[in-house]
Amino acid sequence: MDSEYLIISASLRPDSRSRVLANHLVEHFRSLAVTHRLIDLRDYPLPLCDGEDSYDDPSVAKLQPILASARVIIAATPIYNYDANAALKNLIELTGDAWENKIVGFICAAGGSSSYMSIMSIANSLMLDFRCLILPRFVYALSRDFDHGELVSSEIKSRINELAEMSVRVHYNR
Ligand SMILES: Cc1cc2nc3c(=O)[nH]c(=O)nc-3n(C[C@H](O)[C@H](O)[C@H](O)COP(=O)(O)O)c2cc1C
Repeated sequence: MDSEYLIISASLRPDSRSRVLANHLVEHFRSLAVTHRLIDLRDYPLPLCDGEDSYDDPSVAKLQPILASARVIIAATPIYNYDANAALKNLIELTGDAWENKIVGFICAAGGSSSYMSIMSIANSLMLDFRCLILPRFVYALSRDFDHGELVSSEIKSRINELAEMSVRVHYNR
């Protein structure tokens, strides 16, 4: 079922921490009675965007309408090389116009605090390329926020909740 609130879990790692964060967001949307959908990029093996035939891939054909029908997209991504991971960037390259005019938020899992500004590159490109409205509140979690794969930081939980609530406020006032 398509949903106005879409959460993308971009990590391809089995024990992903950003997926745990995405699942916390799912729980909070549920508690707010917000109809949402989570997609896990592991379930949609995507070709690398070549600007040509890759657009015809069946996984791209499945994801395009899901993205296009969303109003709010929250991307949960690992930070790789001071940026979002390549899987998320590749998804954006493959689905391009489907991102037009979306309200977009970010949840990041990183190895260290020094990559804090890393999400700005992809945020800028979505803002400039597709006129996305970027939520000025993002989540940035480190490994110390987890214990045995569980999110234990109350601060990070609050930040995810605040991001969810802001996305709803912005969506309704728009
Ligand atoms: C290829 C690669 C590059 C990474 N680059 C960074 C980085 O630039 N900054 C950082 O803080 N952590 C970096 N990390 C650590 C990841 O952000 C961290 O392990 C995070 O938990 C991964 O997200 P995930 O658990 O959802 O897969 C990198 C990890 C990998 C595998």
